[in-house]
Amino acid sequence: MPRYAYVNGQYLPHGRAAIHIEDRGYQFADGIYEVVPVAAGRPVDESQHLDRLERSLSELRIAMPMSRRALELVCHELLRRNGIRDGLIYIQVTRGVAPRNHAFPADASPALVMTTKRMNFTGQAKFTDGVSVITVPDQRWARRDIKTINLLPNCLAKQTATEAGAYEALQVDDEGNVTEGTSSNAWIVTGNGKLITRHLSDDILHGVTRRTILAIAAEEGVDFEERPFTVAEALAANEAFVTSATSFVTPVVRIDGKPVGDGVPGPLAQRLLAWYRDYMAGLRVGA
Ligand code: PDD
Repeated sequence: MPRYAYVNGQYLPHGRAAIHIEDRGYQFADGIYEVVPVAAGRPVDESQHLDRLERSLSELRIAMPMSRRALELVCHELLRRNGIRDGLIYIQVTRGVAPRNHAFPADASPALVMTTKRMNFTGQAKFTDGVSVITVPDQRWARRDIKTINLLPNCLAKQTATEAGAYEALQVDDEGNVTEGTSSNAWIVTGNGKLITRHLSDDILHGVTRRTILAIAAEEGVDFEERPFTVAEALAANEAFVTSATSFVTPVVRIDGKPVGDGVPGPLAQRLLAWYRDYMAGLRVGA
């Protein structure tokens, strides 16, 4: 089956899809993106992802490239054309094409690209065995709540993790508190069983998976608190895990080479993953 990308109004064969060399996303990282998981052919938490896309655009004063309804239709059509059951949709919107100049162009139209990726959600070792993470200083800008395509600090930190044989890097602020992963939100479970994740602010991306996991935790009567935590607290915790559109709930079993809890995926992380999988499959309402 040929794979299509959607580029500014056209469905093009993925290998031949291209954008202009003066696209401001290419020159200035002047744009935003979303990654929407797809399960059983259905985008998961689509409306929350599109809400965040609209918010990121409005924070950068970029117009919506098309109506919300039209965006949904393109998402669904691309999934249909590419025959995606499990995987993800990548959506990117930039300020558009204009002669290079830092200030906004007067008349550029936003550029929209969408691609899909097929993924096999079952049998991934990260879910069953857990992963190692390292910690790095958070070197990003002050508006991490905007999902911009300017990901260089995240890429550098992820590369450091990869070279250390780790799955993710937890970024740490000047006070010694974990902000989040390079492409995930960070969580711990304390000795008395309380689920902790950093509160929402400009310091972190407002993860859609984070939101859904908190809603599931509330439904299931899991005690939780949204507050910062230090690396030392994470190392002393019973469990740790990260969440994202592609990590779902991924247990963290080592931080900087030291075991978390018993050094194996924790029971609450495993329960949350199972509940989240049910949610993705449409087997749980609410959340
Ligand atoms: N990243 N924090 C950061 C910095 C992220 O880039 C992401 C997602 C998250 C989790 O957000 P969500 O639960 O909405 O996926 C947190 C995506 C998956 C990526 O960049 O590929």
